[in-house]
Amino acid sequence: MKVLITGGAGFLGQRLARELLARGEVKGVGGQPQRITELVLLDVMAATGFTDSRVRAEVGDIAERSVLERVIDTQTSAIFHLAAIVSGQAEADFDLGMRINLDASRLLLETCRIRGHRPRVVFTSSVAVYGGDMPDVVRNDTALNPQSSYGTQKAIAELLLNDYTRRGFVDGRVLRLPTISVRPGKPNAATSSFASAIVREPLNGETAICPVPGSTRLWLLSPRRAIACLIAGLELDGAALGKQRALNLPGISVTVDEMVDALREVAGEAAVKRILWQPDAFLEKIVGSWPGRWDTTRAEQLGLKGEASFADVIRSYIEDEHLRPV
Ligand SMILES: NC(=O)c1ccc[n+]([C@@H]2O[C@H](COP(=O)([O-])OP(=O)(O)OC[C@H]3O[C@@H](n4cnc5c(N)ncnc54)[C@H](O)[C@@H]3O)[C@@H](O)[C@H]2O)c1
Repeated sequence: MKVLITGGAGFLGQRLARELLARGEVKGVGGQPQRITELVLLDVMAATGFTDSRVRAEVGDIAERSVLERVIDTQTSAIFHLAAIVSGQAEADFDLGMRINLDASRLLLETCRIRGHRPRVVFTSSVAVYGGDMPDVVRNDTALNPQSSYGTQKAIAELLLNDYTRRGFVDGRVLRLPTISVRPGKPNAATSSFASAIVREPLNGETAICPVPGSTRLWLLSPRRAIACLIAGLELDGAALGKQRALNLPGISVTVDEMVDALREVAGEAAVKRILWQPDAFLEKIVGSWPGRWDTTRAEQLGLKGEASFADVIRSYIEDEHLRPV
């Protein structure tokens, strides 16, 4: 089986690639394991650090038709479409967000349609597709009402994936990811960047700024579980998804205060003292508009699993990053 990851040099793309290589196989459409013979990693920057002969790192712009034609052929039976311009950047650069998050997503689906082999396509969507007046608990079928350009682009791409699936051009699966935390490395342009920084930096002995009040409720999933859910999403029986291809992944709902308590439980008071509380009205408004409570029954019934507690999320981060908290 040939697998394509768009955004293959990105944070989740690289992790997903490593996990797929380690597993060596994924379930095919009929549920039987199929060996991965080629893993194509498409990104604007080269995916580095892969020496496995199954990996083909392709550098190219996903908004270019010729690039998509180069990486999708009739043998490409599984596609993880992760390439995106993240929330803060898509809001700052309207044209770029539209081009990559929306136009390129349509182009990818079109390329699959023209190839005519109906690949499974896993698309990473976001909580940003919801907004405005929302119920206390957001359900899988709560109306999409994005309040940002990023959320709008993701919502339109979701609908396209539904329709290309209905028409039989692809077998699409939309996974709405919670905020991924704890994310290693440096802060990024995502509005939710602080949700990793307030754990990651204190564990490294550094200070971190928390721009929102402790009562702010977030919906989180660890990188480890996110990758497991992406693969489980690909392996789902399409018939079980039926006409609604989107799933809210089983994140955990926690307040920032609860995150801090979990940090205290795992790493002690010294780590907690490294968090500096500096309110930022702009970020507070955006983050405060995100729903914090979710009904993820549908994903769970389909076998997708999240963590039991945020302390478990921190522990899995320490384990995955081979950290010795200071
Ligand atoms: N990490 C999160 O908290 C989170 C939450 C919700 C949804 N998502 C979604 O998950 C996906 C992966 O997120 P991530 O955290 O790995 O982001 P990331 O920014 O690390 O990865 C995205 C990758 O897409 C690549 N890319 C951008 N423009 C491109 C182009 N024109 N052509 C080819 N590649 C291009 C980037 O170079 C980058 O490597 C994205 O679709 C994102 O919207 C992430």
